[in-house]
Amino acid sequence: MFPQSVFPDSAEVDSQGQLILGGCKASDLAEEYGTPIYVLDEKTLRTRCRSFIDEFRKIYPNTNVSYACKAYINPILAKLFLEEGMGFDVVSGGELATTISASIPMDEVYFHGNNKTPQELKEALDSSIGWVVVDSFHEMQLLDQLAGESGKTQDILIRVSPGVDPHTHVYTTTGVLDSKFGFSIQTGHAAEAIRMGLSAKNLNLRGLHFHLGSPIFELEPYRVAVDLVLRFAAQFREEGLALQKFSPGGGFAISYTREDEPPPVSDYAETIVSTIKETCEDLGMELPSLVIEPGRAIIGPAGVALYRIGAIKDVPGVRKFVSVDGGMGDNIRPALYQAEYEVVAANKADQEPVEQVTVAGKYCESGDLLATDVMLPHLESGDILAIPAAGAYCPSMASTYNMNPRPPMILVKDGKSQLIRRRESYQDLLSLDLV
Ligand SMILES: Cc1ncc(COP(=O)(O)O)c(C=O)c1O
Repeated sequence: MFPQSVFPDSAEVDSQGQLILGGCKASDLAEEYGTPIYVLDEKTLRTRCRSFIDEFRKIYPNTNVSYACKAYINPILAKLFLEEGMGFDVVSGGELATTISASIPMDEVYFHGNNKTPQELKEALDSSIGWVVVDSFHEMQLLDQLAGESGKTQDILIRVSPGVDPHTHVYTTTGVLDSKFGFSIQTGHAAEAIRMGLSAKNLNLRGLHFHLGSPIFELEPYRVAVDLVLRFAAQFREEGLALQKFSPGGGFAISYTREDEPPPVSDYAETIVSTIKETCEDLGMELPSLVIEPGRAIIGPAGVALYRIGAIKDVPGVRKFVSVDGGMGDNIRPALYQAEYEVVAANKADQEPVEQVTVAGKYCESGDLLATDVMLPHLESGDILAIPAAGAYCPSMASTYNMNPRPPMILVKDGKSQLIRRRESYQDLLSLDLV
């Protein structure tokens, strides 16, 4: 059965068993643009933006939905997200430069990161960025000094670490005590940071932020952490902390495999918003404006990676390796944190699975396996494999390992495709090296 739940909204299988994405035949896209290639379904991107904005604003009008650019950004996508009414969260000078190049208004841009460099902070100040989310004492001092030097007062949020475990992979858990991110509430550092922020001459502390990790399939961690952080914030009212903005970050889960059942956006919204309302009422606190930062949940479901099969190696009684022309260079997630994916034979999508295979990449690492022990139809060299739910944290984490050029990206809609990032060339790869 075709795993519709992990594919973009527009995906279907035609009467010839061909996978169709945004009205385009996947095998035609592979022919026209080459493989590997990342295909993004425009309809899914826009629908996901709208669902976050609508589900939150319906019950909490004062919500800003900021796209977490780390999931993947480029100028055309930034403009598309802007059209949908999204704000932006960036974590580097490069992501900031991307939003600037797309003429994104800076007032709803948030700058995150546990070790922003002096250069990046200067770039943020020069761009008149709306918000810096301060993550360390070092950054607080540096930003205060740099803002003073440029004659500015910078609005900031403080990132606190609430010590709530969201039960996801240890590499993507961020809001616990043993984490490089944020000021821990438990150790007293968060309290110290708030006092420092309130007394900083060139900083205007206007709220708190936390991010628990990603992907979070449970609602309870959000409920517990929202309540905890609001109660913590209330302790500083007398000292002058007015919680104008409050952000529980991102981390909203998506389906990677047909077994995954992430909560609908409305459930995340209901949990976060009802907790804010109840806790604020209990504390007699004014309702803050809310900032939500989905990345994966916006672009993840919209993306499908297409690969062409080359070598097939059968080790009798052990394993059959089906090798494709991409791998860990364009999708590091299976190697990095054992992420699992569905795999569909794009030109045989109506055929029954008949054999168990392991889909291997082309990189010189034994760990370069995209999917282990998956059931697929009988495969031959030249067939196209599609890996869905690949829009987030795949192209953005891509590398040129083994001097392999990074894949292109296209947007598909209504039977038309648009190249939004071209394939890297050998010249691109060599252009940085001096001879
Ligand atoms: C501060 C912050 N906000 C938002 C996100 C986005 O998370 P996701 O893509 O899972 O929604 C991250 C991810 O690491 C993050 O660190």
